[in-house]
Amino acid sequence: MKKTVLVTGGAGFIGGNFVYYMLGAHPDYDIVCVDSLTYAGNLSTLKKAKESARFAFEKADIRDRGTINGIFEKYRPNVVVNFAAESHVDRSIKNPEVFLTTNILGTQVLMDACIAYGAERFHQVSTDEVYGDLPLDRPDMFFTEKTPLKASSPYSASKASADLLVMAYHRTYGLNATISRCSNNYGPYQFPEKLIPLMFINAGEGKPLPVYGKGENVRDWLYVEDHCAAIDLILENGKNGEVYNVGGHNEMRNIDIVRLICKYTGASETLIKFVTDRKGHDLRYAIDPEKIKRELGWTPRTKFADGLKKTLDWYRENESWWKEIVSGEYKNYYAKMYGDKV
Ligand code: NAD
Ligand code: DAU
Repeated sequence: MKKTVLVTGGAGFIGGNFVYYMLGAHPDYDIVCVDSLTYAGNLSTLKKAKESARFAFEKADIRDRGTINGIFEKYRPNVVVNFAAESHVDRSIKNPEVFLTTNILGTQVLMDACIAYGAERFHQVSTDEVYGDLPLDRPDMFFTEKTPLKASSPYSASKASADLLVMAYHRTYGLNATISRCSNNYGPYQFPEKLIPLMFINAGEGKPLPVYGKGENVRDWLYVEDHCAAIDLILENGKNGEVYNVGGHNEMRNIDIVRLICKYTGASETLIKFVTDRKGHDLRYAIDPEKIKRELGWTPRTKFADGLKKTLDWYRENESWWKEIVSGEYKNYYAKMYGDKV
């Protein structure tokens, strides 16, 4: 059936991958991407999508009510998937405010537009970080959808706030809404401020590899395409008002990821530098994905070894994509964040 899906944040990492996923999976869907192109948004990510007659791009800020309403008026989307967010924990520690305005108020503007223009579904792309963290010495503990929200950083607090607001809109105004809370994603088009691309690029350039604390913090890694497939299934068969955790039981210590990247690039492990820890650094994330498996039949397809190789191969083959980023404003960011650490 023909549908128009409005994807916010589609010039970013996961949103960009989702645009390609949906164009491929649903030949009868039109995709409208709304993105304000912050430092993390990149039009070159959408270069191939722009060749499709079923794709449209609108540069707009989700906080700008007038412009967002105009876009809803123009396209009348059936479904809205909200990826647009400030997404980097370290930046939220230095400058929380924009996280609150975009991640919370921007979500509100989109939901108001969904109600005003009669969208059938609003899907909020959330994160496992809303649950806080788990102890390192309790491998038996996992985040379920019933785990209380307990955010640690301004970023995760802003995402948890947005989740509460989505549920409030669902109950108060009858908004048809779903939420997914996914673990750490990796794959093509991830901005180089994040662990895997940052380490790949530094390793290739023979620069220090700044590992926070002792590198023992654990993240639960999922290949981005598996996340996109999960969201697509939730849009198709997910129940109104429900939350779905998404993760593939792939827990890894940061230091082990960095060592794998050294192995792939041939860089010496002597480049690894243990630096001052992130403030409030969450120890361990681990998702229990039983609900989405049981109710929607989702399972991750990509094994970590294969996904990591595919990802690093992509960065190796797409130097121009990331070189353009790291040669610009990113240099100042890196100096500010890491200058006194490495
Ligand atoms: P990203 O930082 O790569 O991309 C965010 C995109 O949103 C960018 O294109 C940016 O330009 C756009 N954007 C930011 N503020 C905007 C605004 N005010 N108006 C319009 N567009 C705006 O982020 P990502 O890693 O792709 O994450 C996407 C979503 O998924 C976020 O909501 C994040 O919380 C969530 N998430 C991320 C992960 C992960 O591992 N990266 C895991 C779980 C959930
Ligand atoms: O769990 C989902 C979350 O995953 C998403 O909601 C966030 O948007 C996304 O950024 C990611 O958050 P993390 O903080 O886990 O990702 P990041 O890549 O920043 O860091 C991963 C781990 O690596 C974390 O424990 C901090 C550590 N790290 C990170 C960087 C950038 C380092 O040791 N050194 C670094 O330079």
